Amino acid sequence: MNFIDSHAHLDLPEFKKDIYDVICRAKESGIENIITIGIGVQECKTAMRIAENYPSVYAAIGIHPHNAKSLDLKTLDFLENNVKTKKVVALGEMGLDFFRNHSSKEDQIRAFRAQLDLAKSVKLPVIIHDRDAHDETLSILKEEKAGLIGGVIHCFSGDAEMAFKCIDMGFYISIPGTVTFKNSKEQIEVARKIPIEKILIETDSPFLSPVPYRGKRNEPLYVKYVAEEIAKIKNIQLEDVARTTVANTKKLFSLT
Ligand code: NI
Repeated sequence: MNFIDSHAHLDLPEFKKDIYDVICRAKESGIENIITIGIGVQECKTAMRIAENYPSVYAAIGIHPHNAKSLDLKTLDFLENNVKTKKVVALGEMGLDFFRNHSSKEDQIRAFRAQLDLAKSVKLPVIIHDRDAHDETLSILKEEKAGLIGGVIHCFSGDAEMAFKCIDMGFYISIPGTVTFKNSKEQIEVARKIPIEKILIETDSPFLSPVPYRGKRNEPLYVKYVAEEIAKIKNIQLEDVARTTVANTKKLFSLT
């Protein structure tokens, strides 16, 4: 049985010591591919290097809403010049985070729109971060006609109604390890209601470890626990979750 971890941050210091082991043990346990996601220029460079070095890893490059204030013309040039690099499969992560507000709302919105523009011009899918900014994220995706390129709402934290709005716009919904927490009622309901054909699975490593590793460093191998939980919630076979989410991810990111 194979799986894909659609969202990990392998470039972060938490993996510095044992990235080779982390990627190998994932691969050996059926994690066919990992998409590693950049959040700033330096991180994107590392993500691209990791993707070059490991056949099973692909990269996405973008500026995280936390770093939105750093997005200037030079940064946009960097993204534009690297987006056609072999193994870069998407732009992101980008979006809005009104929970932490590490960058001002204005900067976040500006950086989000600029990156959506770029994605449309190069025709690549986008990886969206939305925390405590559901309405604003939806309206910007709509106004910018992001459905033309499509993408995924990563670590989805909205309700089922919002999930269906995103799906109608042409987006996938990515479910992280928090779905294994008993108190994640809304996320469990979303996983139950939306069709498996619209679901991706992710770890967001090194963050958000699923049960039974809650509180420890997360790694791509643990995406299996997300798949198992979704199978349980939807009352379907784990094989079906594996096969369908792999197909969904390959289709979205045009993986070969
Ligand atoms: Ni992330």
